[in-house]
Amino acid sequence: MKRLVFLTGAGMSAESGISTFRDSGGLWEQYPVEAVASIGGYERDPELVINFYNERRRQLLDVRPCRGHELVAAMEKDFDVTVITQNVDDLHERAGSTKVIHLHGELMKATSTRDPNKPSQIVTLTPEHLDIQMGEKATDGSQLRPYIVWFGEPVPMLETAAEVVSRADIFVIIGTSLNVYPAAGLTAFAPPEAPIYLIDPKDVPWNAGHGFHHIKKGASAGMEELIKELSTK
Ligand code: OAD
Repeated sequence: MKRLVFLTGAGMSAESGISTFRDSGGLWEQYPVEAVASIGGYERDPELVINFYNERRRQLLDVRPCRGHELVAAMEKDFDVTVITQNVDDLHERAGSTKVIHLHGELMKATSTRDPNKPSQIVTLTPEHLDIQMGEKATDGSQLRPYIVWFGEPVPMLETAAEVVSRADIFVIIGTSLNVYPAAGLTAFAPPEAPIYLIDPKDVPWNAGHGFHHIKKGASAGMEELIKELSTK
């Protein structure tokens, strides 16, 4: 089976009703990114940051995967699919994707402030225990925090993701402005012979040159078109 690798961003979940970050009306217009999504912001005001993610998590319970997520999952019938996502939601998993690499962490998980990437510290939150409280402790005694990779923190899944991209037969990028490194740098790992598809309704100031196709549509309509294109190859 051919290896099909997706790199997804906030635009993937836009049609599920989750705001993107940098579009007009996006999350970073309403909240200063430095305050709510950086390690410095967390150190300065942990309560603000914990509450910000508690809100995002509650919102996640109210939304569902969109047609685009479902079509990505359905590709597993014909391809060996890996999804690398910058999104912290679980909509790819809920749509049925089985191999999902989260570069920026997972909203439905919590971890220790002292050792955020230690596997034994990472716990899954449930609808019954959705919010993280100030004073709630991880097993090492430090404050429980969201399992999110904030600005200023290393990206532990980067190497694994780069390895997956470097073995792609087809690389598909959906709904990311490719503004945030190191995630955006993953595109450079795609093998030169692999076709690269970009699904995004906006023009992006980026062109991978030969073998690059921009499907200028939203995630769901764009996935329909991608499937048509791949079936004629
Ligand atoms: P951005 O908000 O930067 O970019 C969203 C992209 O989605 C833009 O290129 C939009 O044109 C596109 N888009 C909008 N609606 C769409 C739709 N219906 N279908 C397809 N695409 C659509 O979001 P990201 O690139 O994901 O990190 O942002 C990367 C990281 O920055 C996030 O993971 C987050 C943020 O700060 C952290 O919080 C650590």
